[in-house]
Amino acid sequence: MLDRTHRFRRAAMVAAVAIVAVALAGCSDTGPKNNQNALRPKGPYANKILDLTKPFFWIAVVIGVGVVGATIYVALRFRVKPGEERAPKQVHGNTALEIGWTIVPALILAVMAVPTIATIFDLAKKPTGPNVVHITVTARQWWWEYHYDDGSNIETANEMHIPVGAPIALTLQGPPPCSGAGCYANGVIHSFWVPELNGKKDVVPGRRHFLTIEANQPGTYNGQCAEYCGLSHADMRLRVIAETPADFRAWEQRQLTAKPEDVLKNGVNDQQWGCSTCHSFVPTKPGAVGPNLTHVGDRQGFAGFKYELTYDNLWRWVWNAPSRKPMGKLEQHMPAFVDRGMSQEEAKKIACFLLTQTPTTPKTYPECQSP
Ligand code: CUA
Repeated sequence: MLDRTHRFRRAAMVAAVAIVAVALAGCSDTGPKNNQNALRPKGPYANKILDLTKPFFWIAVVIGVGVVGATIYVALRFRVKPGEERAPKQVHGNTALEIGWTIVPALILAVMAVPTIATIFDLAKKPTGPNVVHITVTARQWWWEYHYDDGSNIETANEMHIPVGAPIALTLQGPPPCSGAGCYANGVIHSFWVPELNGKKDVVPGRRHFLTIEANQPGTYNGQCAEYCGLSHADMRLRVIAETPADFRAWEQRQLTAKPEDVLKNGVNDQQWGCSTCHSFVPTKPGAVGPNLTHVGDRQGFAGFKYELTYDNLWRWVWNAPSRKPMGKLEQHMPAFVDRGMSQEEAKKIACFLLTQTPTTPKTYPECQSP
């Protein structure tokens, strides 16, 4: 019996050590880079947050170790010994102790509040200057819409291009209000978060919130919606691609060189499937409901970055989107065109059109070359 208890304790100990080891491995710096690590900031705003986090972490460690250490010490030092029957000294209502352990934590929190509040105000300042890029971000269910308010009026989705070394002033908003039958603005609260470029900011329907991000080196920074917003919350991701100012301007130019008339020329039967009812094929015009698709071939992913942009992913999406990402009520989202008679061949043709209409698409698609 004793042996079994002993074995159980040992197994429990091994399990506890294993769990702690696995948990700590999550903090490892050697794993695959997910470009989404708030502890590895890549710009001045995220840096300010880490500058605040570091000293607070060590203060918390000192307090935590002190409290746990003192608890263990007291428990061992003053434990009841065999044969001992005295009750411990009662301290309930001891004025000096009560005041002490109220005032000390209050003082610690008051001291920590000073740099915290200063940083909050610092981060909330709206950037000024000629190099600020203004972008309006609209949170949709479940993807991100971007409008460049820098004179270019580019409309794009999920993948945000920014120049390095410039503050990017984001205006975060919900979808435009609507009502009545056929209204599917889907106004729920989301949260915009690119951990390596700044903290989170809620996106609330009917309000405009402001957030500034900045990257100080070219790279890809991953982000995601950080507020539970329904079925596909986990698939509401985004990517920020920071480029040199020259590359950024080249990207902008590329976005503006679209030929919307190609929609009909390329043999996509838009009248039958009604793509442009929801999507836009004009670089500066938002889609009525879905993402602007003018340059989808230029992007790395789609569907809130649930999928990397590949020929196979795209045609399967066009053919039967609801089977590829949970989207709630069918009438509110991309329909399953397979149920409306779309053949796989037609879906592939549409995918090819989307992938190749970008005049400077960075990839080539052998599947889309005419025989
Ligand atoms: Cu949008 Cu969670």
